Amino acid sequence: MNKHAHIALESLLSRASTDALTKPAPKGEELETILSAVMRAPDHGKLRPWRLVVVKGDARVKLAEKIVESMKRLHADPDPKKLEKRYKRFSTMPMTIVLGMHLRPDDKIPLLEQELAVGAAGMNLLNALHAAGYGAVWVSGDVAYDPVLAEELGFPAPHALAGFFFVGTPEKTDHEPRRRPVAPYVADWTGEPVSFDADKD
Ligand SMILES: Cc1cc2nc3c(=O)[nH]c(=O)nc-3n(C[C@H](O)[C@H](O)[C@H](O)COP(=O)(O)O)c2cc1C
Repeated sequence: MNKHAHIALESLLSRASTDALTKPAPKGEELETILSAVMRAPDHGKLRPWRLVVVKGDARVKLAEKIVESMKRLHADPDPKKLEKRYKRFSTMPMTIVLGMHLRPDDKIPLLEQELAVGAAGMNLLNALHAAGYGAVWVSGDVAYDPVLAEELGFPAPHALAGFFFVGTPEKTDHEPRRRPVAPYVADWTGEPVSFDADKD
C-alpha cells in the first residue's frame, strides 16, 4: 500500500466521536476546506440535498434557547435538569454545525436516496474534521425532528434536519477507538441468501 493510501485509511479507521471538545474550532479557509468534503458525497441526480448551518460565537446561545423551546414544545412537563443540560451543551460547544436536508419529495430520485446522500455528507464532514485534527460528534434527539425548530433554522417542510454536529478540538488527543472486527458484518454471496454472524443470538 502506498504512503498516501495508508494515511487516508488510518484516518478513516481512527475516527471516533467525542463531545469532550474545547477551543479552537476550525475557521476561515481551513473550515471551508473541511466543509468542502460534503460536496464529495455520492448524490443520485446531482440534487446536492445537504445544507450546512454554522453556529458559532454568540449565536450558540440563541441556538441553545431555540433547543430548549423545542424541548418544551415536545414535552408537556420537561425535566428541568435535562433542559439545563441541553442548554449548557449547545451554548458552550466551540461550534455547532447543523446539517439540514433540502428535500424534493416530488423528484424522480426517491426521498430515501436524498436522505442517504445527506447521511453520506455527514460522514464526510466527520471524516474531514478528524483528518484535520478536530473532534466532533453527530447528535439528534427528538428536537432534530421538530418541524418548528427546523423552520426556525431555515428548513420549512418538506425540508428537515439531519442533526447537529458539535465541533472543536478534542480534549484527549490520544483517544483511539476500539477496532471491532468487520467479519460478522460481511458475507460472500454464492447464490443463496446470506446470513451474518452479527445477527446470530
Ligand atoms: C443520525 C445520527 C444521530 C445520532 N444521534 C445521537 C444522539 O442524539 N446522541 C448520541 O449520544 N449519539 C448519537 N449518534 C451517535 C454518535 O454520533 C456516535 O456515532 C456514537 O456515539 C458512536 O461513536 P463512534 O462514532 O465513535 O463510533 C447519532 C448518530 C447518527 C448517525
